[in-house]
Amino acid sequence: MANVTVIGGQWGDEGKGKIVDWLSSRADVVARFQGGHNAGHTLVVGDQVYKLSLLPSGIVRGTLSVIGNGVVLDPWALKAEVEKLTAQGVAITPDNLQIAETCPLILPIHRDLDALREDASGQGKIGTTRRGIGPAYEDKVGRRAIRVCDLRHVDDLGPQLDRLCAHHDALRAGFGQAPIDRARLKQDLAEIADFVLQFAKPVWLTLNDAKHKGSRILFEGAQGVLLDVDHGTYPFVTSSNTIAGTAAGGTGLGPSAAGFVLGIVKAYTTRVGSGPFPTELDDEIGQRLGERGHEFGTVTGRKRRCGWFDAVLVRQSCAVSGVTGIALTKLDVLDGLEEIKICTGYRLGGETLDHFPAHAADQAAVEPIYETIEGWQESTAGARSWAQLPAQAIKYIRRVEELIQCPVALVSTSPEREDTILVRDPFAD
Ligand code: GDP
Ligand code: IMO
Ligand code: MG
Repeated sequence: MANVTVIGGQWGDEGKGKIVDWLSSRADVVARFQGGHNAGHTLVVGDQVYKLSLLPSGIVRGTLSVIGNGVVLDPWALKAEVEKLTAQGVAITPDNLQIAETCPLILPIHRDLDALREDASGQGKIGTTRRGIGPAYEDKVGRRAIRVCDLRHVDDLGPQLDRLCAHHDALRAGFGQAPIDRARLKQDLAEIADFVLQFAKPVWLTLNDAKHKGSRILFEGAQGVLLDVDHGTYPFVTSSNTIAGTAAGGTGLGPSAAGFVLGIVKAYTTRVGSGPFPTELDDEIGQRLGERGHEFGTVTGRKRRCGWFDAVLVRQSCAVSGVTGIALTKLDVLDGLEEIKICTGYRLGGETLDHFPAHAADQAAVEPIYETIEGWQESTAGARSWAQLPAQAIKYIRRVEELIQCPVALVSTSPEREDTILVRDPFAD
């Protein structure tokens, strides 16, 4: 089966949007399976820049785009994003966008709670996007969520809202906040219902039909493996499973659906928000990576922390996510450096580690062991073939492959859609 699952191999912002957009010319369906509008995916096509948070990146090419049940959906953010893209000339209709009826909704009360908790946490804060992602997932597993299909019955929502609000009112009281205005919440839901419902479908059925017809499905992950709630740098993670295995459960297809698992990996490392980051650079090289890479969050505008490539973390990400091959992005950002470092192991209390320890205190304490390789002075920006890469850049890529034990399938050399080198076609596998 020629499906492809794209996931982030680091702490997010690896360039998934660009690669998904590029691959979606070969796909029949593009499906999101987790996360929500905490994601920020930037696509550059000629002189147009598209910034997507909730919509699958395939929508820009008009490819059938599906938001799976594993996503948490803010109806107002959805409407704003649809309006923004429509104004940019992207046609979004029920013919090319389908949303799972079983998606839990992110409500204003989730956004409130996210912000209240962050504000009360001082130094211990996670640095969330404050979009209400965590609280919405909590209500999903707590069996209190209002879901897309409930919007068909807003008049009957009384008992469900009572249960949800009782839970939230207790939490809000702890923060000195007034109880929820239930009538207002119900009114807001009634007003947005028709907009969301025009896209609501049993998407598991659409996707299973597509599977039986032999269609190519492209799964688009958000965030990255190191932000996975199980495998990431807990508690400094997001509240969903970001690994490739989630593609099946987050859309309603069996585990064999994932196909080629393409890990998107930046040629260096960035992180936005709090939490451990062994190869972080607080010097002028970190500054340079941030400037050349325009490392500012798409969603929150926050400055991203920058550092050297961490082969230990990426090897672990590839292993826990079953990555078949990687897309190495932002190679051009390393152009012109005298030397480049790669983290190949850690030191912790006199011991050498070949993997990232589980405990938060150990994660914060590890010291990277570096290998240094010579940089290249030529420009790789805009390269579209292997032959256009300087020998030293190829050496760097080969060393990365060796250390992470995973081959490179694509290389990206600029934000522009077509500035992409195809080494091994994930759809042909
Ligand atoms: P995502 O969240 O994984 O989709 O990544 P983001 O879109 O948040 O961040 C990646 C940023 O890098 C975006 O601004 C992209 O336009 C840009 N980008 C993607 N690939 C490349 C590349 O190969 N080189 C450069 N210089 N920029 C890139
Ligand atoms: P894309 O899809 C980078 C980070 C936040 C915070 C943590 C928890 O663009 O790669 P949350 O709001 O999810 O509860 O925040 O996760 N985070 C991201 N970092 N890229 C993302 O998405 C992210 N989505 C969440 O900064 O540290
Ligand atoms: Mg992003």
